[in-house]
Amino acid sequence: MRDAEFGDRRARARERLDAIDPHMREGGAEADPQRKGWFEAVYELAADDPAGVPWANLIPHPLLAQWLEGHSIEGLRALDVGCGLGDNAEALAAAGAEVTAFDLVPRAVEWAQRRFPQSAVRYRAADLFDAPAEWRGAFDLVHELYTLQALPAALLPQAARALASFVAPGGKLLVIARARDEGQQSARPPWPLTQAQIETLAVDGLRLASLQDIPATDSLVRHWRAEFAKEEPAK
Ligand SMILES: C[S@@+](CC[C@H](N)C(=O)[O-])C[C@H]1O[C@@H](n2cnc3c(N)ncnc32)[C@H](O)[C@@H]1O
Repeated sequence: MRDAEFGDRRARARERLDAIDPHMREGGAEADPQRKGWFEAVYELAADDPAGVPWANLIPHPLLAQWLEGHSIEGLRALDVGCGLGDNAEALAAAGAEVTAFDLVPRAVEWAQRRFPQSAVRYRAADLFDAPAEWRGAFDLVHELYTLQALPAALLPQAARALASFVAPGGKLLVIARARDEGQQSARPPWPLTQAQIETLAVDGLRLASLQDIPATDSLVRHWRAEFAKEEPAK
């Protein structure tokens, strides 16, 4: 349950995690260029307490839930990228998709499986930058929420190619991320994305089909919700 005590534990965890994140220090990025060591440490130090995982809200993200209300994904093959504790993957499955969900950290994957023991979601430990070959072109819907903004900007081109590779012809990539203006600096993680960064995800046959700039509310900062489409090959 999320109460004041949960909030205190989360605040303490954030302090602890910031202290061991080399990307929080100027010039520290070389120590863990893909932040893999840090992501592993997050789940290990959390020791099964979701308060220790800064992004774990234990509900589907409201901007994904809202998108699902307006789109039918019944029967689609969906992939949830960087699935964390599984809430978004479960929302995709509840909306009728056949879902594969993966995270770099095996501990996160095991935790998601434990949280949803009856789940139809196929949870896998895998690396976005070294994903199983059979995922190439295998998904009608690829969903990514908050993983790109957690990666150093230098990795975005490689991440974009990986995301595009998963999308089947005629399929879609849905990206939800915090937004920032072009001139707004973001020295420390997470790094909200600029519109130009979102646009760079249109690679390898993906076309930006829609981009929503969703203003901040009392409970949510400004976000992008972007859809990319991969054309069917001409017959
Ligand atoms: C900011 S969290 C977001 C988690 C989830 N999407 C959510 O919104 O709750 C980013 C997730 O991506 C995972 N991740 C980081 N690098 C990854 C990589 N190279 N391949 C797969 N997952 C990765 C992390 O372990 C973490 O669970």
